[in-house]
This record gives sequence, structure tokens and C-alpha cells, in this order.
Amino acid sequence: MAKRIQFARTGGSEVLELVDVTPAEPGPGEVRVENRAVGLNFIDIYFRTGLYPAPSLPSGLGTEGAGVVDAVGEGVTHLKVGDRVAYAQGPLGAYADYHVLPAAKAVVLPEAVDFETAAACMLKGLTVQYLLRQTCPLKGGETILFHAAAGGVGSIACQWARALGVKLIGTVSSPEKAALAEKNGAWATIDYTKESVAERVRELTGGEMCDVVYDSVGKDTWETSLDCLKPRALMVSFGNASGPVDGVNIGILNQKGSLFVTRPSLNGYADTRERLKTMADELFAMLESGKVRIDIAQRYPLAEAGKAQDALQGRQTTGSTILLP
Ligand SMILES: NC(=O)c1ccc[n+]([C@@H]2O[C@H](COP(=O)([O-])OP(=O)(O)OC[C@H]3O[C@@H](n4cnc5c(N)ncnc54)[C@H](OP(=O)(O)O)[C@@H]3O)[C@@H](O)[C@H]2O)c1
Repeated sequence: MAKRIQFARTGGSEVLELVDVTPAEPGPGEVRVENRAVGLNFIDIYFRTGLYPAPSLPSGLGTEGAGVVDAVGEGVTHLKVGDRVAYAQGPLGAYADYHVLPAAKAVVLPEAVDFETAAACMLKGLTVQYLLRQTCPLKGGETILFHAAAGGVGSIACQWARALGVKLIGTVSSPEKAALAEKNGAWATIDYTKESVAERVRELTGGEMCDVVYDSVGKDTWETSLDCLKPRALMVSFGNASGPVDGVNIGILNQKGSLFVTRPSLNGYADTRERLKTMADELFAMLESGKVRIDIAQRYPLAEAGKAQDALQGRQTTGSTILLP
């Protein structure tokens, strides 16, 4: 019998249960992937807690994984049984031995990229691709603030920023996380649990402040983030690790210096098969060049998905975490 993690009600990690399932057959335009590794992401916690509603309950969980195509639906031409693939979008249900998803959301893996690496970086690495290369196409020489710099997305962002010649100031919650972010290429780090972030940014930049702030922490950092920007600069709010940003009076953008703000998502950028492929090709090229290395700092059996989520939510993880079916 195949296994999957599902939840029938929203709540803490105790709502996750490992159940036996008969793998579904792929419909037209779909493929079924036999997962070899599954990615753990903060968005999985938003669905489990109900911050983002699952389309129906009981629901599978997870959107990122890598494995081998083991069945192909009608009309699929770019993938065949036996292909090594990875994916980061599509229906919930990647926390499973088998996952059925639209073929357009899966990309063929280059030989040099193993399943664990792929599962650890498809969602996080594609996110860094669009954040640094599309939301604001960085050219080199800019100074940016990137929150949670020792986390999954943050660890990739530090390395990619270094490769672009961008000065990344990373926020972290401990000296160990600061050391890790700096090893990954952060130009400087700030412990946002102890220091005033805006004051430190002012010191570090000689009063110039940042060209872009990338904020995935959300509620706790929103206003501080605005205080770290140059006039007319860009605030990229892309996550809610501390809770969502809401109730914002947009007049604050005027008060803080005619700022720009965007709230992007991977689905909004990798919205066609062609765009997904272009973004994935660039991510894989960064991996193959050695400019970005994926740090899989935690591995859990699939059955321990709840424990893995508690560690991620409890700020105990660094780099990427994967689940092994
Ligand atoms: N919009 C998109 O397209 C997109 C795509 C991928 C990810 N994201 C977002 O990017 C963020 C990072 O995702 P990830 O999976 O790589 O996670 P992660 O960064 O590995 O983990 C989240 C980190 O956020 C920091 N944090 C700050 N306040 C927190 C709080 N109150 N509770 C928990 N953590 C807190 C912690 O680092 P410190 O201990 O150093 O503070 C924690 O390690 C998430 O917010 C996620 O939703 C957005």
C-alpha cells in the first residue's frame, strides 16, 4: 500500500496523519511521480493551520518533490515514464509516496542534480530566482536586506546575491545562524531579536539604506523593513512566518519615502510551462556552476512530517529540510 500524509481539520502538527492510499491514475495532461524526496516548506504550515485554505478536507499536503514519472495521462508529450523530474507547484499532496500533478508543472532534472537536492531547492530556489532576477532584476552593486537569511530560501538567496555582486544584509536570530549566512555570502548580518535593524542598516550603509528589502517574516518586521529602504525603493513582502501583514494604510508608503511594495508568489511568476522551464534552467545552471550549493541540514522520514514542521515553525532548522518516503 502507498502512504500519504493528510489532514482532516486544520490545527497544530498533531492533525497530520499517515494513511494508506491507492495512488490515483493521472488524468489528461497529468503525470504521476513516484517521489524519492519531498521538500518541506513554510507554506505547508500555512495550509495546515488554515491561514491558506486547502481546497477541500481531508487534504494532502506539500507541493514540492522529486522522483520518477511512473504513469502519464493522455495528451502529455514532454514527459514519459522513467523520466527524472522535480516540481514545486500544483495540487497539495506531495507529502506522499506518489503524487499526481499537471505535467506542465514538472521539469526534467539534469543528470547532475540528484533527487534530494532537487526536492530541497525547487520551491526555494525558483523563489530566489524570481525575487532576485525578476521582481527586481539585480545587476550587482545594490544593497539589499533579506530576512531569515539562514533559512531555506535565505541560504540560497545569500549565495545567489554573492554571485550577482549584490551586498546582502541578512537578518537572523542567533550567532550560529549569523555565521551560516555569512559563510553563504551574506555581506553582513543583524540579529533582529537583539539589535535595531534600521539603525544597524543605517550604520552598515553609511546612511544610504537599501535598494530592496525582501521580507518573508511578515507581521513582526513589516514596518522595520520600510524603515530600511532608500526613498522610492522596493519592499518585497513574500511571506508570513510571524503572521500575515494586514490592515495596512497605504499612506505609510508616502510617509516612508514614496516607496514601492509588491506581494509576489512563485505561482505568479512560473505561470506557464515555458516560464517555469526558463527559471528552472537558470536555477540548475547555478547549481551546476557551484555558485549555489543546497544545504540539506535536516532529513526526516515521511512519517515524521509533523515533527519536521514543528522544527521549521519553531525556528530550529537552517537551510533546507526534506522528507523521505
Ligand atoms: N511568496 C513566495 O513565492 C514564497 C516562496 C517560498 C517561500 N516563501 C516564504 O519564505 C519564507 C521562508 O520559507 P522557508 O520554507 O525557506 O522557511 P525558513 O526560512 O527555513 O524558516 C522560516 C524562518 O523564518 C524566521 N522567522 C522569523 N520570525 C519567525 C516566527 N515568528 N516563526 C517562525 N519563523 C520565524 C526564522 O529564522 P530566524 O530564526 O533566523 O528568525 C525561521 O527559521 C516563508 O515565510 C515562506 O512562506 C514565499
